[in-house]
Amino acid sequence: VGKVHELPASVSVREASSDDRHLLEKLRASVGWSTAETGLTAVEAGRSVIYILNVDGEPAASGALVFRNDDPELADGASRAMISNLIVSPRYQDHGLGTELLAFLESEAQQRGIDRIAIGVDKPNVRARQLYERHGYTHLKDKSELWGPVNYLWKMLGRP
Ligand SMILES: CC(C)(COP(=O)(O)OP(=O)(O)OC[C@H]1O[C@@H](n2cnc3c(N)ncnc32)[C@H](O)[C@@H]1OP(=O)(O)O)[C@@H](O)C(=O)NCCC(=O)NCCS
Repeated sequence: VGKVHELPASVSVREASSDDRHLLEKLRASVGWSTAETGLTAVEAGRSVIYILNVDGEPAASGALVFRNDDPELADGASRAMISNLIVSPRYQDHGLGTELLAFLESEAQQRGIDRIAIGVDKPNVRARQLYERHGYTHLKDKSELWGPVNYLWKMLGRP
């Protein structure tokens, strides 16, 4: 029997809306990512949810749960979903926030009836891949995406 994942008291979480474009662009820029797309298009299309984490009231991290993807092996609108765009702003990194966010996203997915979660990591991003492997993710497949080669990992979730 799983339980709802709770974040530390100084951390609050909310779902992003179209009004958060600028905030999401700032978080992306802080880790050197392109701001051409923030993921809000998929949110507006009902294909994903983006969560924003505040630490002591300041935006510190964000992450998306994608329910439907062009590749149904990754997210099929039913029991398979994908975590993407995991960002912890540099000044908040290395304090366990990325780990907390990952556990929170898995818990949210589980509550929504997802039993298999995938995650994509750009091939050179060894550190992020190691973080996911430590949390039970194993190799699913490699794909060549528009922005470069990506390793997809996956993990089974228990019933909530
Ligand atoms: C990858 C990323 C999300 C991880 O976030 P994070 O908050 O730094 O992650 P954590 O703090 O949970 O874990 C990072 C390290 O801190 C360590 N750590 C965990 N809890 C800790 C704590 N309480 N105190 C100190 N260190 C801690 C972990 O052991 C981990 O060690 P590692 O360097 O061997 O991985 C973040 O680095 C990031 O946004 N990177 C840029 C964007 C990116 O690459 N995103 C992933 C796309 S797939």
